[in-house]
Amino acid sequence: MKRYKSAGDITVGVIGYGGAFNMGKAHLNEMKLAGMTPAAVSEIDPERLKVATADFPGIETYGSVAEMLKKSKVDLLAIITPHNTHAKLALQCLNAGRHVVCEKPLAITTAECDAMIAAARKNKVVLSTYHNRHWDGHILGAMKLIRAGAIGKVVRVNVNWGGWGKPGDWWRTSRSISGGILYDWGVHLLEYTLQIVNSEITEVNGYAWSGVWASQTKWKADTNEDDAFLTVRFKSGAWATLTMTQLDSRPEPVMLKVVGTRGNLSMDWNNCDVITHAGAETVTRRVPNPKGEGWKLYQNVADHLTKGKPLVISPEWARRPIHILDLAVQSAKQGRALKAMYA
Ligand SMILES: NC(=O)c1ccc[n+]([C@@H]2O[C@H](COP(=O)([O-])OP(=O)(O)OC[C@H]3O[C@@H](n4cnc5c(N)ncnc54)[C@H](O)[C@@H]3O)[C@@H](O)[C@H]2O)c1
Repeated sequence: MKRYKSAGDITVGVIGYGGAFNMGKAHLNEMKLAGMTPAAVSEIDPERLKVATADFPGIETYGSVAEMLKKSKVDLLAIITPHNTHAKLALQCLNAGRHVVCEKPLAITTAECDAMIAAARKNKVVLSTYHNRHWDGHILGAMKLIRAGAIGKVVRVNVNWGGWGKPGDWWRTSRSISGGILYDWGVHLLEYTLQIVNSEITEVNGYAWSGVWASQTKWKADTNEDDAFLTVRFKSGAWATLTMTQLDSRPEPVMLKVVGTRGNLSMDWNNCDVITHAGAETVTRRVPNPKGEGWKLYQNVADHLTKGKPLVISPEWARRPIHILDLAVQSAKQGRALKAMYA
């Protein structure tokens, strides 16, 4: 793989400059912060290309990825488009010899991830995923407490997200575009889980309920599931659950709960309650979450390309939550647990 002399020598671009969260601007700014040089934007919506030009005057703009790959020498591309386009666009870029940081989820199926990883290896380029939430304050805080032995050995992780109400009419609520209710936030929550449970995935069970909201969204039969749940079994004996719901106004427990042999962690965005036991007495210690450090993602990518530092979000790491999600979707259809092919 080509080693760059300095981060400034790495020219970077984005595919997708969407308006929902202004993620194209956020990526280019973070890449710039890591010392890399913004160079190009590809977007199929001409109005969004105008916004990109206003944000980054002089940046190259393209109406298609094929045109960009033909005309631009840009070295590294972030793919920031709807989920079902990630694999195809990444393969196009990797096979054109460009490094790729694909937004989460890396892809929808394990097979797509496999093809992307093979293309990156064949073309000797980097493939990573924008798992910026790897460095969220609450997971940084939880990992510190777990490593310090605050709750003993990890037995169970419960993550959940959702509420009650009709899903929106955006692409995130189309099952065939998003991958389903489990994928958007679920992939972040599973990435937290895999940090916490440092063990091999052995088996996944998935459950899904559909139809309650389908008639009320523009996607009809293709609307995301109303409620979905999965369990993961790990080689260490630990297990994890993920719930994503549009049917539960009070999803319990709080966003992230870890049960250990000597205590529990119960986390929300701001604090982590460390619950331990002294004899018959339950002791709750509230620890504020540290500040998030999501900027470290592109710093690590730049250090990898210039100094050969190990990539934190390797494609093999990013494939793990996708493998769980893919198995859960298949398991829900088949009504049985499925063995993992990748640990
Ligand atoms: N990591 C995070 O914290 C985070 C936050 C928000 C979104 N995301 C992820 O970012 C991705 C995009 O989400 P978003 O909220 O920006 O969506 P969005 O709908 O705002 O933007 C998507 C953009 O992609 C463009 N697009 C679609 N196909 C294209 C193609 N072939 N070539 C060029 N542009 C194309 C669309 O025109 C649109 O402007 C998703 O994978 C989502 O999960 C991640």
